[in-house]
Amino acid sequence: MNKNFRISERVLRIQKSAIHEMTRLSKEIEDVAFLSWARPTSDTPEHIKAAAIAAIKNGLVGGYSETAGLLELREEIVKKLKRDNNIDADVSEILVTVGAIEAISAAVMAVIDPGDEVILPSPTYSTHIRQVLIASGRPIFVPTLEDKEFSLDLERIEKAITPKTRAILYCSPSNPTGTVFKEEELRRLADIALKRNLMVITDEAYEYFVYDGNKHFSIGSIPEMKNNVISCFTFTKTYAMTGWRVGYLYASKNLIPQIRKAHIPFAICAPAVSQYAALAALKGSQECVAQFRKHYFKARNLMCDRLDRLNSIFAYQRTSGSYLMFPKILIPEGKDSATFCKRLLKQAKVSTTPGVAFGPTGEGHLRLSFCVSEDEINKAFDRREKYFIG
Ligand SMILES: Cc1ncc(COP(=O)(O)O)c(C=O)c1O
Repeated sequence: MNKNFRISERVLRIQKSAIHEMTRLSKEIEDVAFLSWARPTSDTPEHIKAAAIAAIKNGLVGGYSETAGLLELREEIVKKLKRDNNIDADVSEILVTVGAIEAISAAVMAVIDPGDEVILPSPTYSTHIRQVLIASGRPIFVPTLEDKEFSLDLERIEKAITPKTRAILYCSPSNPTGTVFKEEELRRLADIALKRNLMVITDEAYEYFVYDGNKHFSIGSIPEMKNNVISCFTFTKTYAMTGWRVGYLYASKNLIPQIRKAHIPFAICAPAVSQYAALAALKGSQECVAQFRKHYFKARNLMCDRLDRLNSIFAYQRTSGSYLMFPKILIPEGKDSATFCKRLLKQAKVSTTPGVAFGPTGEGHLRLSFCVSEDEINKAFDRREKYFIG
């Protein structure tokens, strides 16, 4: 390639992914205890795989589906939104996408013009930052309140709004902090968005993984938000379907045709085979979801116990959702989380993700995933104890 070939500004503004960098470095070392990925390690349940195989055998998956997704799948999604999210949707208000990621990208593309500002309560999922950048938007990081379990700082959010602000993009339960924003906080956020006519884009990927009596609340269930919300969901986490690449969004009838214009150039439609698998996931028993939740809850408790034994090195908020924790590093070396994580990998053979990947307010922290086996957690923490305490 010509060395001087000009790469687009919007792509140049995107930094290398710290998660992928840690994965790459981890591969160079043998027998790493791996806590870097927010990816379920369980396999997709058998009845979902069987439905996909049947769809292949019946010749249903060789072509594109409707760009908005299979009608039957959208009908099931409508039922699910009513049952679990208290959202009253019509099939025409659903767009099936290539995971939640493509849903959020299409949403951002549909509402952001170059130079528009998007408020990201942070630390926030690193991909959200990139989604704003690739739309030539400006991410505006508004810190959450760490000493209040990383809850929303609504006053600061309101102060951060300028004439260029177009949207607020958040995930709850949060990646990386695991915080579940409370209904009351989200109702106040909705008031702010309505007062200033902002679009709220949600990422509800971890909606089913909440603990200790916390409840997931969908801001899209507030009737007044109808024209100011794009709610994004996925099958990835709920049914351990990471590689199937299927998710969906809910938005008003007026918005869907516009968002679909952004969806088509990137995807045309979600993979047909995965849509049949998703249909089986929604129609089948939900026992697998309960099992995953039970496993993550136990793993969360184990990780907290193990972190307690390292309380001179890390301070943490007990995660109330997702399968992630975001402890603060108390020792001086933690100020540079990228170097800290690389050293931990090389010297203790434990792979984690540096907090700086999740926006400037994430610096000084590291992200740990507990969607792994208890043995993996114990292995990682045995090594860390040896490394930090000796
Ligand atoms: C907050 C959040 N949203 C979305 C995704 C990816 O979702 P999908 O696989 O549906 O694109 C992840 C994956 O780690 C995530 O943590």
